[in-house]
Amino acid sequence: MKLFDVYPLYDVCPVRAKDVHVYDEKGTEYLDLYGGHAVISVGHGHPHYVEQLEKQLHKIAFYSNAIINPLQQELADKIGNHSCLHDYQMFLCSSGAEANENALKLASFQTGKKRVIAFKNAFHGRTSAAVAATDNRNINAPLNQQQEVTFLAFNDAQALEEELKKGDVCAVIFEPIQGVGGLDMPEDDFVFQMETLCNQYNTCLIADEVQSGFSRSGTFFAFQKNNIKPHIITMAKGMGNGFPIGGILVHPDIEAKYGMLGTTFGGNHLACVASIAVLDILKNENLQNHAKTMEAYFISLAKKLNGVKIKGRGLMLGLEFDFEVGPLRKRLIYEKHIFTGGSSNKNVLRILPPLTVQKAHFDQLFEALEELL
Ligand SMILES: Cc1ncc(COP(=O)(O)O)c(C=O)c1O
Repeated sequence: MKLFDVYPLYDVCPVRAKDVHVYDEKGTEYLDLYGGHAVISVGHGHPHYVEQLEKQLHKIAFYSNAIINPLQQELADKIGNHSCLHDYQMFLCSSGAEANENALKLASFQTGKKRVIAFKNAFHGRTSAAVAATDNRNINAPLNQQQEVTFLAFNDAQALEEELKKGDVCAVIFEPIQGVGGLDMPEDDFVFQMETLCNQYNTCLIADEVQSGFSRSGTFFAFQKNNIKPHIITMAKGMGNGFPIGGILVHPDIEAKYGMLGTTFGGNHLACVASIAVLDILKNENLQNHAKTMEAYFISLAKKLNGVKIKGRGLMLGLEFDFEVGPLRKRLIYEKHIFTGGSSNKNVLRILPPLTVQKAHFDQLFEALEELL
């Protein structure tokens, strides 16, 4: 059977990985500054993570959401401790798109409305409502286009209010730091205005923290730089360090009803243990603060490169050049053995390393860039 050929592939086949490195079958070492798309948070194969998953595998790996699973409560408590959002409620699923799909559905249940406001260059996933709220016509099938979504520019509070005034908007969904879009961020004032306007017009504010959450930005959630209280927060990627897990955190004012959301795989025992291990490692190794230290170091090196704009925050960083970076990414992989990311802004090289990345790894990147540019 052939694979359904939807991914353009780099000619690299990793067979094992450790911390910030992956290794191919010949033992060639690659520096992973992409983290498998911001997924590897605490490093590949972290001993505590491996040990906890192995132990759980021998106890019980999976059962459905029809039984009591105390690991879900343990995970909720730990997320509460890390984020200080003790009064929110948690629902678990298995991916970023599923988290956003559930968030949008919940916003619609809550408000009784159905139009969504999203932002230019947004990426929220590939399921029905999530992809409709993604600013890319090429990945929206006719089926998805039934959804009512209006795309606005960041920082235009007047346009936002005009749309909300129409009274039919269930949700405003935003990425505090755009991922796929190329690391643009809404201004602080606009973030506060979104919160105020959503409260005023009975609309749910959804912070998509699928990529920026779990300490990557230097705060536990990136929106916490602004100290707002979104109605729903979505999370995935770094949450499980590669184990598929996603979830939403729901404001205390929104009430759950039996059957309103559900999933077979979401919140299973192994997934919870993976995420609990991630949270323990983030805390024990102080990786959130480390992300800030490493951001500062990255910026100090990037400033020495001519004609480059530095984007993003924490360890969700980008370098914007005045040329398309596709060929540069290939040379970084094949000649320098460094993985980096691209974005829908073709001039942006994205850097999304495991949060355990060290200064020497950034030295290696910038030495490679100086040689190649
Ligand atoms: C901000 C954001 N939201 C949602 C998603 C979708 O996540 P998933 O691929 O796990 O469905 C992504 C994936 O890149 C993302 O970056």
